[in-house]
Amino acid sequence: MPERIFIGVAWPYANGPLHLGHIAGAYLPADIFARYHRMKGNEVVMVSGSDTHGAPITLQADKEGVSPRELFERYHKLFLQVWQQFGISFDLYTHTDTENHHRISQQMFLRLKEKGYLLVQKQLQMYSEASQRFLPDRYVIGTCPHCGYERARGDQCEKCGALLEPTQLLNPKSLLDGTTPVLRETEHFFLNLPAFEERLKAYVAEHENIWRPNVYRFTRNYLEQGLQPRPITRDLDWGIPVPVEGFEGKVLYVWFEAVIGYLSATIEWAQLKRDEGRGTGDEWKAFWYDQATRSYYFIGKDNIPFHTLIWPAELMGVERLDDADGSVTFVLPYDVPANEFLNLEGDKFSTSRNWAVWAHDVVARYNPDTFRYHLTAIAPETADTEFTWSDFVRRNNDELVGWWGNLVHRVLTFTARNFDGQVPQPSTLTERDREVLQKAEEMLATVDSLLSTCRFRRALAEAMEFVRALNRYWDEQQPWQTIKSDRERTGTVCYVALRAIDTLKVALAPFLPFTCERLHHMLGYDGQLVGEFEVREIRETERTHLALLYKPESVPLRWQPSQLPPGQKLRDIAPLFAKLDEKVAEEERAKLGKPTSY
Ligand code: MF3
Ligand code: ZN
Repeated sequence: MPERIFIGVAWPYANGPLHLGHIAGAYLPADIFARYHRMKGNEVVMVSGSDTHGAPITLQADKEGVSPRELFERYHKLFLQVWQQFGISFDLYTHTDTENHHRISQQMFLRLKEKGYLLVQKQLQMYSEASQRFLPDRYVIGTCPHCGYERARGDQCEKCGALLEPTQLLNPKSLLDGTTPVLRETEHFFLNLPAFEERLKAYVAEHENIWRPNVYRFTRNYLEQGLQPRPITRDLDWGIPVPVEGFEGKVLYVWFEAVIGYLSATIEWAQLKRDEGRGTGDEWKAFWYDQATRSYYFIGKDNIPFHTLIWPAELMGVERLDDADGSVTFVLPYDVPANEFLNLEGDKFSTSRNWAVWAHDVVARYNPDTFRYHLTAIAPETADTEFTWSDFVRRNNDELVGWWGNLVHRVLTFTARNFDGQVPQPSTLTERDREVLQKAEEMLATVDSLLSTCRFRRALAEAMEFVRALNRYWDEQQPWQTIKSDRERTGTVCYVALRAIDTLKVALAPFLPFTCERLHHMLGYDGQLVGEFEVREIRETERTHLALLYKPESVPLRWQPSQLPPGQKLRDIAPLFAKLDEKVAEEERAKLGKPTSY
Protein backbone atom coordinates (compact mmCIF):
# COMPACT_ATOMS: atom_id res chain seq x y z
CA MET A 1 0.00 0.00 0.00
CA PRO A 2 1.49 3.34 -0.97
CA GLU A 3 1.96 5.73 1.89
CA ARG A 4 1.11 9.41 1.84
CA ILE A 5 4.03 11.59 2.90
CA PHE A 6 3.92 15.32 3.58
CA ILE A 7 7.32 17.01 3.69
CA GLY A 8 7.61 20.54 5.03
CA VAL A 9 10.93 22.32 4.97
CA ALA A 10 11.82 25.41 7.01
CA TRP A 11 10.86 28.65 5.29
CA PRO A 12 14.08 30.60 4.87
CA TYR A 13 14.05 34.34 5.46
CA ALA A 14 14.60 35.97 2.09
CA ASN A 15 17.00 38.55 3.50
CA GLY A 16 20.32 37.24 2.24
CA PRO A 17 21.77 34.36 0.24
CA LEU A 18 21.75 30.74 1.38
CA HIS A 19 24.93 29.07 2.53
CA LEU A 20 25.93 25.44 2.82
CA GLY A 21 24.74 25.35 6.45
CA HIS A 22 21.19 25.92 5.22
CA ILE A 23 21.52 23.25 2.53
CA ALA A 24 22.97 20.65 4.91
CA GLY A 25 20.60 21.52 7.74
CA ALA A 26 17.25 21.19 6.02
CA TYR A 27 16.97 21.35 2.23
CA LEU A 28 19.23 18.50 1.23
CA PRO A 29 17.95 15.88 3.69
CA ALA A 30 14.36 16.85 2.82
CA ASP A 31 15.10 16.40 -0.87
CA ILE A 32 16.78 13.02 -0.35
CA PHE A 33 13.74 11.95 1.64
CA ALA A 34 11.29 13.17 -1.02
CA ARG A 35 13.18 11.51 -3.87
CA TYR A 36 13.38 8.26 -1.93
CA HIS A 37 9.65 8.23 -1.18
CA ARG A 38 8.73 9.04 -4.77
CA MET A 39 10.92 6.15 -5.94
CA LYS A 40 9.07 3.93 -3.48
CA GLY A 41 5.86 4.83 -5.25
CA ASN A 42 4.52 6.82 -2.32
CA GLU A 43 2.39 9.90 -2.68
CA VAL A 44 4.61 12.84 -1.78
CA VAL A 45 4.20 16.54 -1.50
CA MET A 46 7.17 18.65 -0.47
CA VAL A 47 6.56 22.35 0.07
CA SER A 48 8.21 25.43 1.44
CA GLY A 49 8.67 29.04 0.50
CA SER A 50 10.51 32.18 1.34
CA ASP A 51 9.66 33.83 4.64
CA THR A 52 9.07 37.44 3.64
CA HIS A 53 7.96 38.96 6.94
CA GLY A 54 9.39 39.71 10.31
CA ALA A 55 12.25 41.71 11.68
CA PRO A 56 14.98 39.84 9.78
CA ILE A 57 13.46 41.21 6.58
CA THR A 58 12.75 44.75 7.75
CA LEU A 59 16.10 45.10 9.50
CA GLN A 60 17.97 44.17 6.32
CA ALA A 61 15.70 46.27 4.09
CA ASP A 62 16.32 49.30 6.33
CA LYS A 63 20.03 48.63 6.20
CA GLU A 64 20.05 48.53 2.40
CA GLY A 65 17.59 51.40 2.06
CA VAL A 66 15.13 49.35 0.00
CA SER A 67 11.55 48.28 0.63
CA PRO A 68 10.92 44.90 2.26
CA ARG A 69 9.28 43.71 -0.97
CA GLU A 70 12.22 44.71 -3.12
CA LEU A 71 14.53 42.89 -0.72
CA PHE A 72 12.62 39.64 -0.47
CA GLU A 73 11.86 39.43 -4.19
CA ARG A 74 15.56 39.63 -4.96
CA TYR A 75 16.53 36.79 -2.64
CA HIS A 76 13.44 34.75 -3.40
CA LYS A 77 14.53 34.69 -7.04
CA LEU A 78 18.01 33.63 -6.01
CA PHE A 79 16.57 30.81 -3.88
CA LEU A 80 14.57 29.50 -6.85
CA GLN A 81 17.84 29.30 -8.76
CA VAL A 82 19.64 27.52 -5.91
CA TRP A 83 16.96 24.80 -5.62
CA GLN A 84 17.37 24.04 -9.28
CA GLN A 85 21.17 24.05 -9.09
CA PHE A 86 21.17 21.62 -6.18
CA GLY A 87 18.20 19.64 -7.47
CA ILE A 88 16.01 20.34 -4.41
CA SER A 89 12.73 18.95 -5.70
CA PHE A 90 10.01 21.06 -4.09
CA ASP A 91 6.61 20.17 -5.47
CA LEU A 92 5.95 23.81 -4.75
CA TYR A 93 8.24 26.52 -3.46
CA THR A 94 6.34 29.77 -2.95
CA HIS A 95 6.51 32.63 -0.43
CA THR A 96 4.52 34.14 2.40
CA ASP A 97 3.49 37.37 0.71
CA THR A 98 0.90 35.73 -1.54
CA GLU A 99 -2.79 36.53 -1.28
CA ASN A 100 -3.38 32.82 -0.71
CA HIS A 101 -1.08 32.74 2.32
CA HIS A 102 -2.49 35.97 3.74
CA ARG A 103 -6.04 34.64 3.43
CA ILE A 104 -5.35 31.26 5.00
CA SER A 105 -3.31 32.76 7.84
CA GLN A 106 -6.15 35.14 8.64
CA GLN A 107 -8.64 32.29 8.43
CA MET A 108 -6.60 30.19 10.86
CA PHE A 109 -6.33 33.16 13.19
CA LEU A 110 -10.09 33.82 13.12
CA ARG A 111 -10.86 30.15 13.63
CA LEU A 112 -8.66 30.06 16.75
CA LYS A 113 -10.38 33.21 17.96
CA GLU A 114 -13.86 31.75 17.37
CA LYS A 115 -12.96 28.62 19.31
CA GLY A 116 -11.80 30.67 22.25
CA TYR A 117 -8.10 29.91 22.00
CA LEU A 118 -7.04 33.53 21.69
CA LEU A 119 -6.84 35.95 24.58
CA VAL A 120 -6.66 39.70 24.24
CA GLN A 121 -4.25 41.14 26.71
CA LYS A 122 -2.70 44.44 27.34
CA GLN A 123 0.97 44.01 27.10
CA LEU A 124 3.96 46.11 27.87
CA GLN A 125 6.02 46.25 24.71
CA MET A 126 9.46 47.64 24.17
CA TYR A 127 9.24 51.10 22.67
CA SER A 128 11.98 53.36 21.46
CA GLU A 129 11.36 56.98 22.45
CA ALA A 130 14.21 58.08 20.23
CA SER A 131 12.68 56.43 17.15
CA GLN A 132 9.08 56.80 18.35
CA ARG A 133 8.05 53.27 17.53
CA PHE A 134 7.42 49.89 19.05
CA LEU A 135 10.35 47.55 18.70
CA PRO A 136 9.96 44.08 17.25
CA ASP A 137 11.52 41.43 19.48
CA ARG A 138 14.51 41.08 17.23
CA TYR A 139 15.19 44.79 17.43
CA VAL A 140 16.02 44.38 21.10
CA ILE A 141 19.15 42.62 22.30
CA GLY A 142 20.41 41.99 25.79
CA THR A 143 21.60 39.35 28.23
CA CYS A 144 19.85 35.95 28.23
CA PRO A 145 18.27 35.26 31.66
CA HIS A 146 18.92 31.54 31.21
CA CYS A 147 22.53 31.30 30.10
CA GLY A 148 23.98 34.79 30.43
CA TYR A 149 24.76 35.18 26.71
CA GLU A 150 25.12 38.91 26.17
CA ARG A 151 23.80 39.29 22.65
CA ALA A 152 20.60 37.31 23.02
CA ARG A 153 17.78 38.51 20.77
CA GLY A 154 14.42 39.48 22.15
CA ASP A 155 12.70 36.46 20.59
CA GLN A 156 15.23 33.73 21.21
CA CYS A 157 18.67 33.15 22.64
CA GLU A 158 20.86 31.83 19.86
CA LYS A 159 23.25 30.40 22.40
CA CYS A 160 20.97 28.18 24.49
CA GLY A 161 17.93 28.08 22.21
CA ALA A 162 15.48 29.38 24.84
CA LEU A 163 12.48 31.25 23.49
CA LEU A 164 12.33 34.66 25.06
CA GLU A 165 10.21 37.74 25.44
CA PRO A 166 12.21 40.93 25.04
CA THR A 167 11.15 42.00 28.53
CA GLN A 168 13.04 39.03 29.96
CA LEU A 169 16.36 40.32 28.64
CA LEU A 170 18.68 41.87 31.17
CA ASN A 171 20.12 45.22 30.10
CA PRO A 172 18.07 45.56 26.87
CA LYS A 173 19.15 47.86 24.04
CA SER A 174 17.39 48.97 20.87
CA LEU A 175 19.10 47.85 17.69
CA LEU A 176 17.60 50.85 15.87
CA ASP A 177 19.32 53.53 17.85
CA GLY A 178 21.25 51.91 20.70
CA THR A 179 19.09 53.53 23.37
CA THR A 180 17.52 51.68 26.28
CA PRO A 181 13.91 51.00 25.31
CA VAL A 182 11.03 51.81 27.60
CA LEU A 183 7.90 49.76 28.16
CA ARG A 184 4.70 51.06 26.68
CA GLU A 185 1.26 49.56 26.86
CA THR A 186 -0.30 48.01 23.77
CA GLU A 187 -3.05 45.48 23.16
CA HIS A 188 -2.41 42.12 21.53
CA PHE A 189 -3.80 38.70 20.81
CA PHE A 190 -2.21 35.80 22.64
CA LEU A 191 -2.41 32.13 21.77
CA ASN A 192 -3.61 30.42 24.91
CA LEU A 193 -0.99 27.69 24.98
CA PRO A 194 -1.92 26.46 28.48
CA ALA A 195 -5.28 25.38 27.03
CA PHE A 196 -3.36 22.82 24.95
CA GLU A 197 -1.11 21.60 27.73
CA GLU A 198 -2.68 18.18 28.27
CA ARG A 199 -3.02 17.46 24.57
CA LEU A 200 0.51 18.61 23.85
CA LYS A 201 1.91 16.45 26.63
CA ALA A 202 0.14 13.40 25.26
CA TYR A 203 1.23 14.22 21.71
CA VAL A 204 4.87 14.69 22.69
CA ALA A 205 4.91 11.49 24.77
CA GLU A 206 3.59 9.51 21.79
CA HIS A 207 6.56 10.66 19.76
CA GLU A 208 9.30 9.83 22.22
CA ASN A 209 10.55 6.90 20.17
CA ILE A 210 10.08 8.55 16.80
CA TRP A 211 11.83 11.88 17.30
CA ARG A 212 15.57 12.23 17.53
CA PRO A 213 16.65 12.34 21.19
CA ASN A 214 17.60 16.03 21.03
CA VAL A 215 14.24 16.98 19.53
CA TYR A 216 12.33 15.04 22.14
CA ARG A 217 14.43 16.27 25.06
CA PHE A 218 14.27 19.91 24.04
CA THR A 219 10.50 19.75 23.60
CA ARG A 220 9.86 17.94 26.86
CA ASN A 221 12.01 20.36 28.83
CA TYR A 222 10.12 23.21 27.29
CA LEU A 223 6.81 21.67 28.31
CA GLU A 224 8.04 20.99 31.81
CA GLN A 225 8.91 24.64 32.33
CA GLY A 226 5.20 25.38 31.99
CA LEU A 227 3.41 26.89 29.02
CA GLN A 228 2.48 30.57 28.93
CA PRO A 229 0.10 32.37 26.58
CA ARG A 230 2.17 33.67 23.65
CA PRO A 231 1.53 36.96 21.87
CA ILE A 232 0.82 36.35 18.18
CA THR A 233 0.32 39.90 16.95
CA ARG A 234 2.73 42.80 16.68
CA ASP A 235 2.79 46.57 16.27
CA LEU A 236 4.26 46.72 12.79
CA ASP A 237 3.25 47.81 9.34
CA TRP A 238 4.97 45.00 7.39
CA GLY A 239 3.19 41.67 7.54
CA ILE A 240 -0.25 40.13 7.44
CA PRO A 241 -2.87 42.49 8.91
CA VAL A 242 -4.76 41.31 12.00
CA PRO A 243 -8.29 40.81 10.60
CA VAL A 244 -10.09 42.30 13.60
CA GLU A 245 -11.62 45.72 14.03
CA GLY A 246 -9.72 47.92 16.40
CA PHE A 247 -6.44 46.24 15.58
CA GLU A 248 -5.53 48.31 12.56
CA GLY A 249 -1.82 48.85 12.18
CA LYS A 250 -1.03 45.48 13.73
CA VAL A 251 0.11 42.33 12.00
CA LEU A 252 0.31 38.61 12.73
CA TYR A 253 3.55 37.60 14.34
CA VAL A 254 5.87 36.14 11.71
CA TRP A 255 6.27 32.83 13.52
CA PHE A 256 2.53 32.41 13.92
CA GLU A 257 1.95 32.74 10.19
CA ALA A 258 5.16 31.30 8.67
CA VAL A 259 4.33 27.80 9.93
CA ILE A 260 0.86 28.18 8.40
CA GLY A 261 2.77 28.31 5.12
CA TYR A 262 3.03 24.52 5.21
CA LEU A 263 -0.73 24.34 4.86
CA SER A 264 -1.25 27.32 2.57
CA ALA A 265 1.47 26.11 0.19
CA THR A 266 -0.16 22.68 -0.03
CA ILE A 267 -3.42 24.42 -0.88
CA GLU A 268 -1.67 26.54 -3.51
CA TRP A 269 -0.08 23.39 -4.95
CA ALA A 270 -3.50 21.74 -5.28
CA GLN A 271 -5.02 24.85 -6.84
CA LEU A 272 -2.27 24.92 -9.44
CA LYS A 273 -3.08 21.30 -10.30
CA ARG A 274 -6.70 22.27 -10.80
CA ASP A 275 -5.79 25.29 -12.92
CA GLU A 276 -3.74 23.03 -15.19
CA GLY A 277 -6.58 20.55 -15.50
CA ARG A 278 -4.57 17.91 -13.64
CA GLY A 279 -6.69 17.73 -10.51
CA THR A 280 -9.66 18.95 -8.53
CA GLY A 281 -7.88 21.42 -6.27
CA ASP A 282 -8.81 19.30 -3.25
CA GLU A 283 -5.64 17.20 -3.28
CA TRP A 284 -4.33 19.03 -0.22
CA LYS A 285 -7.08 17.64 1.98
CA ALA A 286 -5.83 14.06 2.15
CA PHE A 287 -2.41 15.37 3.18
CA TRP A 288 -3.89 17.42 6.02
CA TYR A 289 -7.00 15.56 7.18
CA ASP A 290 -6.32 11.89 6.58
CA GLN A 291 -4.62 10.63 9.73
CA ALA A 292 -2.83 7.96 7.69
CA THR A 293 -0.64 10.74 6.25
CA ARG A 294 2.78 11.02 7.78
CA SER A 295 4.15 14.51 7.91
CA TYR A 296 7.84 15.32 8.27
CA TYR A 297 9.36 18.71 8.99
CA PHE A 298 13.00 19.33 8.10
CA ILE A 299 14.39 22.20 10.13
CA GLY A 300 17.40 23.43 12.06
CA LYS A 301 17.55 22.96 15.82
CA ASP A 302 16.73 26.61 16.52
CA ASN A 303 13.25 25.99 15.08
CA ILE A 304 12.31 22.98 17.21
CA PRO A 305 9.68 24.44 19.61
CA PHE A 306 7.80 26.12 16.79
CA HIS A 307 7.36 22.80 15.05
CA THR A 308 6.85 20.45 17.99
CA LEU A 309 4.62 22.66 20.16
CA ILE A 310 3.35 25.88 18.63
CA TRP A 311 2.43 24.58 15.19
CA PRO A 312 0.77 21.46 16.68
CA ALA A 313 -1.18 23.73 19.06
CA GLU A 314 -2.36 25.88 16.14
CA LEU A 315 -3.44 22.75 14.28
CA MET A 316 -5.19 21.27 17.31
CA GLY A 317 -7.04 24.49 17.92
CA VAL A 318 -8.24 25.08 14.37
CA GLU A 319 -9.29 21.45 13.88
CA ARG A 320 -10.08 21.97 10.23
CA LEU A 321 -10.43 24.80 7.77
CA ASP A 322 -13.71 23.98 6.11
CA ASP A 323 -16.99 23.40 7.88
CA ALA A 324 -17.39 19.77 6.98
CA ASP A 325 -19.10 17.57 9.54
CA GLY A 326 -17.40 16.56 12.70
CA SER A 327 -14.29 17.89 14.23
CA VAL A 328 -11.10 16.14 13.41
CA THR A 329 -7.66 17.38 13.95
CA PHE A 330 -5.28 18.27 11.23
CA VAL A 331 -2.48 15.80 10.71
CA LEU A 332 0.11 16.72 13.33
CA PRO A 333 3.86 16.51 12.69
CA TYR A 334 4.89 12.87 12.76
CA ASP A 335 8.63 13.42 12.72
CA VAL A 336 10.67 16.59 13.04
CA PRO A 337 14.18 15.49 12.09
CA ALA A 338 15.86 18.69 13.20
CA ASN A 339 19.55 18.95 12.53
CA GLU A 340 22.23 20.46 14.71
CA PHE A 341 24.44 23.09 13.11
CA LEU A 342 27.09 22.85 10.45
CA ASN A 343 30.16 24.94 11.22
CA LEU A 344 32.75 26.18 8.79
CA GLU A 345 36.51 25.87 9.13
CA GLY A 346 36.55 26.09 12.91
CA ASP A 347 33.90 28.79 13.32
CA LYS A 348 30.17 29.40 13.00
CA PHE A 349 28.76 30.43 9.62
CA SER A 350 28.36 34.20 9.72
CA THR A 351 26.76 36.28 7.01
CA SER A 352 27.95 39.58 8.43
CA ARG A 353 31.58 38.47 8.60
CA ASN A 354 31.28 36.70 5.22
CA TRP A 355 32.42 33.52 6.94
CA ALA A 356 30.31 31.40 4.66
CA VAL A 357 30.26 29.27 1.58
CA TRP A 358 27.48 30.69 -0.55
CA ALA A 359 25.36 28.02 -2.15
CA HIS A 360 24.69 29.72 -5.49
CA ASP A 361 28.35 30.64 -5.83
CA VAL A 362 30.02 27.28 -5.26
CA VAL A 363 27.45 25.13 -7.00
CA ALA A 364 28.20 27.01 -10.20
CA ARG A 365 31.85 25.99 -9.95
CA TYR A 366 31.67 22.38 -8.74
CA ASN A 367 29.57 19.33 -9.40
CA PRO A 368 26.40 19.70 -7.26
CA ASP A 369 26.58 15.99 -6.38
CA THR A 370 29.96 16.53 -4.78
CA PHE A 371 28.26 18.86 -2.29
CA ARG A 372 25.25 16.60 -1.91
CA TYR A 373 27.62 13.76 -1.10
CA HIS A 374 29.87 15.64 1.25
CA LEU A 375 27.09 17.44 3.11
CA THR A 376 25.31 14.12 3.68
CA ALA A 377 28.49 12.38 4.80
CA ILE A 378 29.02 15.10 7.42
CA ALA A 379 25.32 15.77 8.11
CA PRO A 380 24.89 17.28 11.60
CA GLU A 381 22.23 14.74 12.54
CA THR A 382 23.19 14.20 16.16
CA ALA A 383 25.88 16.80 16.86
CA ASP A 384 27.33 19.93 15.29
CA THR A 385 29.73 19.08 12.48
CA GLU A 386 32.19 21.01 10.41
CA PHE A 387 32.71 21.73 6.74
CA THR A 388 36.32 22.14 5.69
CA TRP A 389 37.53 22.56 2.14
CA SER A 390 40.38 20.12 2.58
CA ASP A 391 37.91 17.45 3.71
CA PHE A 392 35.71 18.32 0.74
CA VAL A 393 38.60 17.79 -1.68
CA ARG A 394 39.72 14.61 0.07
CA ARG A 395 36.28 13.00 0.03
CA ASN A 396 35.75 13.95 -3.59
CA ASN A 397 39.08 12.43 -4.60
CA ASP A 398 39.14 9.36 -2.36
CA GLU A 399 35.49 8.38 -2.18
CA LEU A 400 33.58 9.76 -5.15
CA VAL A 401 36.39 9.47 -7.68
CA GLY A 402 38.41 6.71 -6.02
CA TRP A 403 35.76 4.27 -4.87
CA TRP A 404 32.63 4.96 -6.87
CA GLY A 405 33.59 6.84 -10.04
CA ASN A 406 36.55 4.59 -10.83
CA LEU A 407 34.56 1.43 -10.23
CA VAL A 408 31.87 2.56 -12.64
CA HIS A 409 34.41 3.69 -15.19
CA ARG A 410 36.48 0.51 -15.03
CA VAL A 411 33.52 -1.84 -15.30
CA LEU A 412 31.74 0.05 -18.05
CA THR A 413 34.75 0.70 -20.25
CA PHE A 414 36.06 -2.85 -19.85
CA THR A 415 32.67 -4.33 -20.71
CA ALA A 416 32.10 -2.03 -23.64
CA ARG A 417 35.53 -2.74 -25.07
CA ASN A 418 35.32 -6.52 -24.76
CA PHE A 419 31.65 -7.26 -25.21
CA ASP A 420 30.65 -5.22 -28.17
CA GLY A 421 29.33 -2.30 -26.14
CA GLN A 422 26.57 -4.34 -24.52
CA VAL A 423 25.61 -5.98 -21.26
CA PRO A 424 26.95 -9.55 -21.69
CA GLN A 425 24.79 -12.63 -21.45
CA PRO A 426 25.84 -14.40 -18.21
CA SER A 427 26.54 -18.10 -18.00
CA THR A 428 26.09 -20.03 -14.75
CA LEU A 429 26.61 -17.82 -11.70
CA THR A 430 29.14 -18.97 -9.13
CA GLU A 431 28.39 -18.89 -5.45
CA ARG A 432 30.50 -15.73 -5.21
CA ASP A 433 28.49 -14.07 -7.99
CA ARG A 434 25.25 -14.91 -6.27
CA GLU A 435 26.62 -13.60 -2.99
CA VAL A 436 27.48 -10.25 -4.59
CA LEU A 437 24.03 -9.90 -6.14
CA GLN A 438 22.46 -10.92 -2.86
CA LYS A 439 24.55 -8.31 -1.03
CA ALA A 440 23.40 -5.66 -3.49
CA GLU A 441 19.79 -6.42 -2.62
CA GLU A 442 20.54 -6.44 1.09
CA MET A 443 22.28 -3.10 0.75
CA LEU A 444 19.21 -1.67 -0.97
CA ALA A 445 16.97 -2.98 1.82
CA THR A 446 19.26 -1.53 4.50
CA VAL A 447 19.43 1.85 2.81
CA ASP A 448 15.66 1.71 2.46
CA SER A 449 15.08 1.23 6.15
CA LEU A 450 17.64 3.87 7.13
CA LEU A 451 16.13 6.42 4.76
CA SER A 452 12.62 5.72 5.96
CA THR A 453 13.76 6.69 9.47
CA CYS A 454 15.72 9.76 8.34
CA ARG A 455 19.18 8.39 9.03
CA PHE A 456 20.70 9.83 5.90
CA ARG A 457 24.29 9.76 6.93
CA ARG A 458 24.26 6.07 7.76
CA ALA A 459 22.23 5.26 4.66
CA LEU A 460 24.88 6.81 2.46
CA ALA A 461 27.66 5.06 4.38
CA GLU A 462 25.94 1.69 3.82
CA ALA A 463 25.75 2.26 0.08
CA MET A 464 29.41 3.30 -0.04
CA GLU A 465 30.36 0.25 1.99
CA PHE A 466 28.89 -1.87 -0.76
CA VAL A 467 30.76 0.17 -3.38
CA ARG A 468 33.95 -0.94 -1.67
CA ALA A 469 32.82 -4.55 -1.52
CA LEU A 470 32.12 -4.43 -5.24
CA ASN A 471 35.57 -3.00 -5.89
CA ARG A 472 36.98 -6.03 -4.06
CA TYR A 473 34.91 -8.39 -6.18
CA TRP A 474 36.15 -6.81 -9.41
CA ASP A 475 39.78 -6.85 -8.28
CA GLU A 476 39.65 -10.44 -7.08
CA GLN A 477 37.92 -11.72 -10.25
CA GLN A 478 40.59 -10.07 -12.45
CA PRO A 479 38.52 -9.92 -15.62
CA TRP A 480 41.42 -8.24 -17.42
CA GLN A 481 43.31 -11.54 -16.98
CA THR A 482 40.48 -14.00 -17.54
CA ILE A 483 39.45 -12.30 -20.78
CA LYS A 484 42.56 -13.81 -22.37
CA SER A 485 41.45 -17.38 -21.68
CA ASP A 486 37.80 -17.47 -20.65
CA ARG A 487 35.52 -15.03 -22.35
CA GLU A 488 32.36 -16.61 -21.04
CA ARG A 489 33.37 -16.41 -17.39
CA THR A 490 34.58 -12.84 -17.90
CA GLY A 491 31.24 -11.88 -19.40
CA THR A 492 29.49 -13.27 -16.33
CA VAL A 493 31.69 -11.19 -14.03
CA CYS A 494 30.94 -8.05 -16.05
CA TYR A 495 27.24 -8.86 -15.94
CA VAL A 496 27.28 -9.30 -12.15
CA ALA A 497 29.25 -6.09 -11.63
CA LEU A 498 26.94 -4.12 -13.93
CA ARG A 499 23.85 -5.43 -12.17
CA ALA A 500 25.31 -4.45 -8.79
CA ILE A 501 26.28 -1.01 -10.10
CA ASP A 502 22.77 -0.61 -11.44
CA THR A 503 21.33 -1.42 -8.01
CA LEU A 504 23.77 1.04 -6.45
CA LYS A 505 22.46 3.63 -8.87
CA VAL A 506 19.00 3.11 -7.39
CA ALA A 507 20.26 3.43 -3.82
CA LEU A 508 22.36 6.49 -4.63
CA ALA A 509 19.84 8.29 -6.82
CA PRO A 510 18.19 10.20 -3.94
CA PHE A 511 21.61 11.42 -2.82
CA LEU A 512 23.33 11.95 -6.18
CA PRO A 513 20.64 12.53 -8.80
CA PHE A 514 22.86 14.39 -11.28
CA THR A 515 25.57 11.76 -11.65
CA CYS A 516 23.15 8.84 -11.27
CA GLU A 517 21.20 10.26 -14.19
CA ARG A 518 24.37 10.16 -16.29
CA LEU A 519 25.10 6.63 -15.13
CA HIS A 520 21.52 5.62 -15.94
CA HIS A 521 22.06 6.89 -19.46
CA MET A 522 25.47 5.15 -19.80
CA LEU A 523 23.83 1.88 -18.77
CA GLY A 524 21.54 2.26 -21.74
CA TYR A 525 18.36 3.50 -20.09
CA ASP A 526 16.36 6.52 -21.13
CA GLY A 527 14.66 8.95 -18.82
CA GLN A 528 15.60 11.52 -16.24
CA LEU A 529 16.57 11.20 -12.62
CA VAL A 530 17.11 14.82 -11.63
CA GLY A 531 13.67 15.72 -12.98
CA GLU A 532 12.21 18.85 -14.45
CA PHE A 533 11.59 22.17 -12.74
CA GLU A 534 9.47 25.06 -13.81
CA VAL A 535 9.60 28.64 -12.59
CA ARG A 536 6.15 30.06 -12.93
CA GLU A 537 4.71 33.51 -12.54
CA ILE A 538 1.48 33.15 -10.61
CA ARG A 539 -1.08 35.87 -10.95
CA GLU A 540 -3.53 36.41 -8.10
CA THR A 541 -6.11 39.16 -7.88
CA GLU A 542 -3.78 42.02 -7.11
CA ARG A 543 -0.30 40.66 -6.99
CA THR A 544 1.95 38.29 -8.91
CA HIS A 545 4.57 36.00 -7.47
CA LEU A 546 7.20 33.58 -8.70
CA ALA A 547 7.01 29.96 -7.68
CA LEU A 548 9.08 26.89 -8.43
CA LEU A 549 7.36 23.65 -9.35
CA TYR A 550 8.93 20.24 -9.70
CA LYS A 551 7.53 17.63 -12.07
CA PRO A 552 7.78 14.33 -10.18
CA GLU A 553 6.33 12.44 -13.13
CA SER A 554 9.46 13.32 -15.10
CA VAL A 555 11.38 10.74 -13.04
CA PRO A 556 10.10 7.20 -13.57
CA LEU A 557 12.85 5.31 -11.67
CA ARG A 558 11.53 2.95 -8.99
CA TRP A 559 13.15 1.67 -5.80
CA GLN A 560 13.93 -1.90 -6.76
CA PRO A 561 16.98 -4.04 -7.47
CA SER A 562 18.43 -3.90 -10.96
CA GLN A 563 16.62 -5.62 -13.81
CA LEU A 564 19.39 -4.77 -16.26
CA PRO A 565 18.80 -7.00 -19.30
CA PRO A 566 21.67 -8.73 -21.16
CA GLY A 567 22.10 -7.20 -24.57
CA GLN A 568 21.29 -3.65 -23.44
CA LYS A 569 23.62 -1.19 -25.16
CA LEU A 570 26.01 0.84 -23.05
CA ARG A 571 26.68 4.35 -24.31
CA ASP A 572 28.59 7.60 -23.87
CA ILE A 573 30.84 6.26 -21.13
CA ALA A 574 32.69 9.05 -19.33
CA PRO A 575 33.98 9.63 -15.78
CA LEU A 576 31.24 10.56 -13.29
CA PHE A 577 33.47 12.75 -11.11
CA ALA A 578 36.60 14.79 -11.69
CA LYS A 579 39.53 14.86 -9.33
CA LEU A 580 40.04 18.17 -7.55
CA ASP A 581 43.45 19.69 -7.15
CA GLU A 582 44.67 20.03 -3.56
CA LYS A 583 45.15 23.75 -4.06
CA VAL A 584 41.39 24.18 -4.49
CA ALA A 585 41.14 23.86 -0.71
CA GLU A 586 43.66 26.62 -0.11
CA GLU A 587 42.13 28.93 -2.67
CA GLU A 588 38.64 28.52 -1.32
CA ARG A 589 39.74 28.88 2.27
CA ALA A 590 41.55 32.09 1.46
CA LYS A 591 38.27 33.68 0.35
CA LEU A 592 36.59 33.21 3.73
CA GLY A 593 36.06 36.26 5.87
CA LYS A 594 37.07 38.67 3.13
CA PRO A 595 34.59 41.41 2.38
CA THR A 596 33.12 40.38 -0.96
CA SER A 597 29.81 40.97 -2.56
CA TYR A 598 27.72 37.88 -3.02
N1 MF3 B 1 12.09 31.97 8.63
C1 MF3 B 1 12.28 31.32 9.90
C2 MF3 B 1 13.71 30.87 10.02
O1 MF3 B 1 14.40 30.84 9.04
C3 MF3 B 1 11.28 30.24 10.12
C4 MF3 B 1 11.45 28.98 9.35
S1 MF3 B 1 10.41 27.69 9.60
C5 MF3 B 1 8.81 28.16 9.50
O2 MF3 B 1 14.18 30.55 11.11
F1 MF3 B 1 8.16 27.29 8.84
F2 MF3 B 1 8.31 28.20 10.64
F3 MF3 B 1 8.69 29.26 8.90
ZN1 ZN C 1 20.58 31.70 26.56
